[in-house]
Amino acid sequence: PLPRSFQVPLPVPPVARVVGTRDGADLVELTQRRGTAELLPGVRTTVWGYDGVFPGPTVEARRGRPLVVRHRNELPVPTVVHLHGGHTSPEHDGWPLDLVVPVGDTTGWTPHHGTGSLAAGVREHRYPHDQRAATLWYHDHRMDFTGPAVYRGLAGFHLVRDDVEDSLPLPRGDRELPLLICDRAFDADGELAYPARDPALRHEPGVADEWMEGVLGDVVLVNGAAWPVHEVDAARYRLRLLNAANARRFQLALRVEGGGALPLTQIGSDLGLLAAPLEHRSLTLAPAERFDVLVDFSAVPVGTEVTMVNELGEGRTGEVMRFRVVRRAADDSRVPDRLAEVETLVPGRVRREFVFERGSVGGHAGWTVNGLPFDPDASQADVPLGETETWRFRTDVHHPVHVHLDGFQVLRRGPGGPGPYDAGWKDTVDVRPREVVEVAVRFTGHRGRYVVHCHNLEHEDMAMMATIRTV
Ligand code: C2O
Ligand code: CU
Repeated sequence: PLPRSFQVPLPVPPVARVVGTRDGADLVELTQRRGTAELLPGVRTTVWGYDGVFPGPTVEARRGRPLVVRHRNELPVPTVVHLHGGHTSPEHDGWPLDLVVPVGDTTGWTPHHGTGSLAAGVREHRYPHDQRAATLWYHDHRMDFTGPAVYRGLAGFHLVRDDVEDSLPLPRGDRELPLLICDRAFDADGELAYPARDPALRHEPGVADEWMEGVLGDVVLVNGAAWPVHEVDAARYRLRLLNAANARRFQLALRVEGGGALPLTQIGSDLGLLAAPLEHRSLTLAPAERFDVLVDFSAVPVGTEVTMVNELGEGRTGEVMRFRVVRRAADDSRVPDRLAEVETLVPGRVRREFVFERGSVGGHAGWTVNGLPFDPDASQADVPLGETETWRFRTDVHHPVHVHLDGFQVLRRGPGGPGPYDAGWKDTVDVRPREVVEVAVRFTGHRGRYVVHCHNLEHEDMAMMATIRTV
C-alpha cells in the first residue's frame, strides 16, 4: 500500500563540500555508489546515488569561478556524468561514451570505436562557470542506459550564482528551496521497479515494449520523499522547480485549502533569470525543465495548507507536496520589476530541422532524430561558433528536446509566437505532439562534439539522440 500524503518532512539535499583545489579551481569529490534511502516512510530502498544519496549533494558554484568535480565510480556498471545546462568543454561534458569503469572492474569493458574514452574508476570534470546564474543539474548520461541509472537515483542539483542575482531582493537561506520532482514505481519489497530488458544494465538497452513511450511511476517524490510536507513562514519563498522524471510531465499549481490558488511568479527559466517576472496560475514542466518561481505564503492566513498539485496527474499522481503556513515572520524580500539583462538572439540565414519521431533502430522499434538512430561517429550538424541559427524541432508525440553546450530562445510554437512557458534562456523545450517549435540557437566558446536529444530518458536510450559538432 502507498503511504499517506503529506506526512513526511521535505528533505533538502546536502551541499557538496569543497575539499581542496585543483589547478586553480575548487575541488569537489563525489563517489557514485549504492546506498539505502527512505523514499517511502519506513521502507529501505536501494538507490544508486552520488555519495550514495538521492538527490545527490547540491553543488554550489559561482559565475566565473571554476570548479572540478572528481567522480569515483563504485557502482557495478560504467557511468558518465553530464552537467545539464553547463557551458562545458566537450571532454568534460559527459559525452555518452566517455565511460568511467567501476573501480577495480576487470571484466573487460571496451571503448567504442573511435569516439569514446574509458577511465579506470575516476574522472575529473572541469566546469569553468562562464555562464549566468542558473539552476543546473547533473545526472548520468551513459549511452543506452541513462534511464535506469537516473531512475535509481543518479541526479542532483548544481546551482550557479552571480552578482546580478545577489543584488536582487529575492528570498534566501531557508526561504530558497530546490525541489527535485519525479515519479517512481516500487516492487513489493520496496525496491525501485524499472522495466529494463537487461536488469544488470550491461548489454541490452531499452525497456519492455509496453514502456516504449517512457517509464512512469505511481509515487511522486520531491527531493527523494513521497508526497512530503514542508512548514513555511507566512512569507515569500523561492522555489527552484526541476522535473527530474524519466518521462512524466507535470502541470504544477498551488491549491489553497478552502479554495483558490496561489500564483507562481516565474523569475527564471532553465538557464537563469528572466528580464522581468511573469505570473502563472500553473506551470507545465517537461522532463529536465527548470522553473525558478516566487510564491508568497503571506497571502494566506497562518494555519493554511497549500497543496502543490499536478493537474496532469490522476489520483495520487495528481498530488505533489504540501506547504503548511505555520507562523508570521518578517520578510524584506520583494518581487523586482526588472530582474536581469537578457540578450535577444537574432537569427541569421542558416536554418536546420530536427524531426523527433518513432523509427527503426537496428531492426527494432525505437526513436530517431531525422529518421536516424544515435550515431556517435556521424555529425548531423556542423555548427559554426558564434553564428545564430534557426532550428525547427518537429514531433510525432511529446518530446522534450534538449541541446548541450548552449541555450536557445523559443521564437515560435506552432502557428503562433512562444507559449506561456517558453520565456527566457532555455536548454530544454517541451515539444508537444505533432508540433513545430522554432528556436534561435548560438554556440560559443568550445569546439567539439556534443549531443541534441530527447530528454524522455527511454526515448533517449532507444536512440533519440543526434551528434552535432561546433566548428
Ligand atoms: Cu539532462 Cu543530455 O541531458
Ligand atoms: Cu522523446
